[in-house]
Amino acid sequence: MSGKFHAIAIDGPSGAGKSTFARRVAEDMGYVYVDTGAIYRTVGYYIWICGIGGRDADGVRRLIDDVNVRIEYPGDGVQHMYLNGKDITGEIRTPEISMYASQVSAHKCVRDFLMDTQRDLARTHNVVMDGRDIGTVVLPDADVKIFLTASAEVRAKRRWLELQEKGVKDSYEKVLADMIQRDKQDSTREVAPLRQAEDAVLLDTSDMTLEQTFEAIKKIIGEKLGA
Ligand code: DC
Repeated sequence: MSGKFHAIAIDGPSGAGKSTFARRVAEDMGYVYVDTGAIYRTVGYYIWICGIGGRDADGVRRLIDDVNVRIEYPGDGVQHMYLNGKDITGEIRTPEISMYASQVSAHKCVRDFLMDTQRDLARTHNVVMDGRDIGTVVLPDADVKIFLTASAEVRAKRRWLELQEKGVKDSYEKVLADMIQRDKQDSTREVAPLRQAEDAVLLDTSDMTLEQTFEAIKKIIGEKLGA
């Protein structure tokens, strides 16, 4: 990137492990980890508590200016999300809000609204930013672009195990069906759909362990940044 800060963009479908690796890489390199999905989840959460459908374009457009999103990094390794002054970091991690985030993120007014927030972070910090359109739209000049993916079944299994640990009792079949629906919504929307940037390195982790994936990511970054 042309500024004095470096940006590493990690895009891919839900459940590919983007946040796990982006956080670890950021810690390793002393960069700020920016979870852009959490920002969309915050907007989705607001629309949900207002009782508006995530696909209701007029309803979302009417409410978007009432949303104030603040991001804080208090140093506990977690990106805290504040919605209109209230910490809702935990509340946005439910399957229902996953679906809402995916639906509201398809609206252009939502994407436009959040663009500056994401770009400002990259202008002022070294970042590892994960999402769906970071390498294609938000930071097209990122120094490193990785497209992280895995089969839908493998991603659903990982997400199901995570949810079980949190006490969410959804079946594996439901988690897989939700994941396939979100993949479809995220990759077929008109504005900034999920897709691999032409200059991104593809990493399919279906048959890789966590350590193998982490090593592969570090190797790609090392080669690109010349470290
Ligand atoms: O990464 P996640 O599962 O927390 O993201 C939740 C939803 O937000 C995802 O289904 C699509 C949307 N999203 C997006 O459209 N663009 C991003 N850069 C990040 C997330």
